[in-house]
Amino acid sequence: MPILDGQVALVTGGGRGLGRSIAHAFAAHGAVVAIDDVYRDENGVAAAGATANEIEAAGGKALALFEDVTTGDGARAMVEATVERFGRLDILVTCAGNVTRGLLHELTEQQWDSLINLHLRGHFLSCKMALPHMLEQNSGRIITVGSRGAFFQVPASKKISRDIRKPPSTAYSAAKAGILGMSTTLAVELWETGITVNCLLPSATTQLFPETGARMVGGVPASASLDPDDIAPTVVYLASPDAADISGKIVYSSGGDLIFYGDQLDVRGSRMIRKLGRWTPEELQEIVPSMVGAGNE
Ligand SMILES: NC(=O)c1ccc[n+]([C@@H]2O[C@H](COP(=O)([O-])OP(=O)(O)OC[C@H]3O[C@@H](n4cnc5c(N)ncnc54)[C@H](O)[C@@H]3O)[C@@H](O)[C@H]2O)c1
Repeated sequence: MPILDGQVALVTGGGRGLGRSIAHAFAAHGAVVAIDDVYRDENGVAAAGATANEIEAAGGKALALFEDVTTGDGARAMVEATVERFGRLDILVTCAGNVTRGLLHELTEQQWDSLINLHLRGHFLSCKMALPHMLEQNSGRIITVGSRGAFFQVPASKKISRDIRKPPSTAYSAAKAGILGMSTTLAVELWETGITVNCLLPSATTQLFPETGARMVGGVPASASLDPDDIAPTVVYLASPDAADISGKIVYSSGGDLIFYGDQLDVRGSRMIRKLGRWTPEELQEIVPSMVGAGNE
């Protein structure tokens, strides 16, 4: 039996990129899929409609929606239309997103607000509208979409200037960090229910990130493949009944690389020192460079 047999999924931003790959994979594994996306090409062709048509042509069942996830009305209409058509909602994947590039002092207030709105408010509203249905069923799978850009890898020392991977913008990192925080907190909020929440950190070539690619991941060269279709099986698994006990995880997926990140603030992965009493700045002058590795450069 297909692992998502009989499940009803809603994929925001499912017209293109990762969302499109995930919608296809859901359908291929037995789910019926609602695809929401606001994008239309220069000829007026809606991306959500195109993905839905492809799925139906391949023998699946799909519904195209064109709602804006940043508005309460849009997010509500998207969820209600899915439930009305398919009777329930089992899986929500929030791929709707965009990127703003630029240095912080050059970003306009409008650019900042619009990116935070799309990612954070979009995630909030999509989850808010989907949850009453999932809570009523006492089951559900929410897969949010963060980014490794939420916590950009900072070199050990200011003395290192070469080969630093440049973030798109602070607005993008802030939005994605917000999604990580929202996802782990929501997972805990829903701990006693049958609903899981996990946050995907993808890396793939799409129209949004035509040049994307983590050159290094976990200290080793990243997977050579940047095909969004490689990420979809991870999302299918997280959305499946088999993953009932997996919640609150931050999951990197790209090509054949898969990381289940540990707790970001767990001191076991960090350097911690303790003094019985208060540190002096002079003592810290001595000790901090070796703690952060700056003394080794
Ligand atoms: N591609 C990567 O390597 C990568 C890495 C990290 C995070 N991400 C995140 O993954 C998500 C998907 O990115 P992608 O690379 O597939 O990009 P993409 O542009 O191909 O897909 C995003 C889709 O979201 C849709 N969308 C935008 N605003 C919307 C709105 N208000 N309502 C409904 N739909 C809307 C767009 O029309 C687009 O089709 C984004 O959140 C992105 O930040 C991608």
